Amino acid sequence: MDLYLDSADREALGPLLRTGVFAGVTTNPLILERAGVRLGEVPELTRWLLDAGAREVFLQTTTSDVEAVVAEGHALRALSDRVVVKVPATVAGLTATAELARAGVPTLLTAVYHVRQAVLARAVGAAWIAPYLGRMTEAGRDGRRHVEQMQGILTGSGTRVLVASIRSVDDVHRLAVAGIDAVTVSAAVARELLEEPLTAAAVDQFDEAVTRLR
Ligand code: E4P
Repeated sequence: MDLYLDSADREALGPLLRTGVFAGVTTNPLILERAGVRLGEVPELTRWLLDAGAREVFLQTTTSDVEAVVAEGHALRALSDRVVVKVPATVAGLTATAELARAGVPTLLTAVYHVRQAVLARAVGAAWIAPYLGRMTEAGRDGRRHVEQMQGILTGSGTRVLVASIRSVDDVHRLAVAGIDAVTVSAAVARELLEEPLTAAAVDQFDEAVTRLR
């Protein structure tokens, strides 16, 4: 399972990207707003993320008209061949994704809440779907079952599953065991993921032994 960081906060992202654990960074307008990044600053943010170690950067379109989404998708992809274009899984988004896929632009259909949307994403040639696990569960749906069924439908296809709206490291653990392709996590969940108290305690014992051996 690949790990991504769901943030645009450079102070938080720098040390996490440096670990080499995370394949890339996912963003959307809410994430940009939380980090105080204006739309005109996205090209510079993208360059910074790639220089900081992100192997892929996911950037979301901001319009709803099909032609405008397609044009914006091409513009975002033009920033780097490591940019993946995120498009909300609406009818216009599906239509634009089909056109972008035909043009060879990798896309992720986002804000996915139901298994059937996985079928639609594969049909239009999306490279990824992003089901919102936390929000699905909070909306009263069996989010984990939906996500696992999406993975079952898409395994072996050209469409991969990148689960978002992750609420805990336990979510990450269970999704990995379930064979999900990828998850994107907040900086807080990422930091918790990297820490294991029993490992830290063992290192303390090593350090004490080293002190005794000097
Ligand atoms: C990712 O693209 C989504 O914005 C994010 O994962 C949603 O998470 P939230 O439910 O915590 O807002």
